[in-house]
Amino acid sequence: MTSRDGSVVGEQPVAQEAADPGRAPALDTISVGDRYDVHVGAGALARLTPWVTGGRRVMVVHQPGRTELVAEVTELVSAAGGQPFTHEVPDAEAAKDVSVLAGAWAALGQAAFTRDDLVVGVGGGAVTDLAGFVAASWLRGVDVIQLPTSLLGVVDAAVGGKTGINTAEGKNLVGAFHEPRAVLCDPAWMASMSRPDLVSGLAEVIKCGFIADPVILDLVEADPAAACDPSAPVMTELVARAVRVKAEVVEGDLKEAGIREILNYGHTFAHAIEQVEDYRWRHGDAVAVGMVFAAELAVRAGVLDPAVLARHRAILESVGLPTTYAGADWDDLRTAMARDKKARGATLRFIVLTDVGSTQRLEGPGEELLLEAFGAIAPGG
Ligand SMILES: NC(=O)c1ccc[n+]([C@@H]2O[C@H](COP(=O)([O-])OP(=O)(O)OC[C@H]3O[C@@H](n4cnc5c(N)ncnc54)[C@H](O)[C@@H]3O)[C@@H](O)[C@H]2O)c1
Ligand SMILES: [Zn+2]
Repeated sequence: MTSRDGSVVGEQPVAQEAADPGRAPALDTISVGDRYDVHVGAGALARLTPWVTGGRRVMVVHQPGRTELVAEVTELVSAAGGQPFTHEVPDAEAAKDVSVLAGAWAALGQAAFTRDDLVVGVGGGAVTDLAGFVAASWLRGVDVIQLPTSLLGVVDAAVGGKTGINTAEGKNLVGAFHEPRAVLCDPAWMASMSRPDLVSGLAEVIKCGFIADPVILDLVEADPAAACDPSAPVMTELVARAVRVKAEVVEGDLKEAGIREILNYGHTFAHAIEQVEDYRWRHGDAVAVGMVFAAELAVRAGVLDPAVLARHRAILESVGLPTTYAGADWDDLRTAMARDKKARGATLRFIVLTDVGSTQRLEGPGEELLLEAFGAIAPGG
């Protein structure tokens, strides 16, 4: 990949291979087509240097609480000859608000930010979504580099080019496709995450295992505790593998058609839980239950071996993710699923597995089948 100043970025021998053969490299690089690279592992931050030279202005958009990393970023930018300035935004979903977007535009205007300058997003998925949209909209598009600090942020939000904010009417209703120039993530940044947030992000990693990369499942099964530990070497491999799955899916399919929908495995039912729970459930927790629901449907539709369904429950429970749900009536969940933007009219669509690593679409499953699957995810069901 070539940076704006023509230097070649990301094609250096990436991995400082660990001495132990067979072990994952300390720093892994995943290319999303020929468009940008995702650097995962120790030392990822250094990959920012080539992008921030030559007096380039760099707006570092960040959440409260990531102060050490933000200081490291600004020091690196200054040392490389760039001109950093920080822009703190409110935490979590409060960042994805039109008033916050307007505040960022004001800061860019005051800094006389030009088309040659760079936005850097530092934080969870909420910040990378906002920073991406700020970059997409300023002067009709400036460069953005994402530094996701949460597990969900790196394996999902920061990769793929979807950016956006919320409105009073709903989440992510306003946005743009705007790919980053690079994504950098050192799992050490996640050390301060709460365990429930980290484990929730792990649901998306496990999802990538079921839809495309069985090695992810093997790694989690071999040591579930290490899979929940950002300092464990396996975390870099899990993140890199999940990013590779997402990268391969979005590569040929930026605008959501076709295979990108396999990333929605477990999400039809998950979105229904999130709606009826008023977004008090963590996204990954809802996805965990949604995957079990989809696997129950697949078994009942006769396309999936019950052993793979059992594997869903075992692996999700081994890291402390939920696999049952009894918080609402079927009717409310059914209505919520029909409202989901991914549904086509009244017909429900599910991505289901026919095996690990192999998916198909299940269109309009019968009401009886749905109800049976719902019964099976009730506690003790
Ligand atoms: N663009 C996409 O394709 C895409 C995909 C999935 C999710 N998303 C978006 O991502 C957001 C969810 O991501 P998220 O879970 O990272 O949310 P988030 O950014 O709200 O982070 C969750 C919480 O974790 C904190 N946090 C982040 N990194 C931390 C760290 N290293 N240590 C301690 N605390 C940390 C945040 O401050 C916040 O309080 C949602 O807004 C969702 O819409 C976008
Ligand atoms: Zn998701």
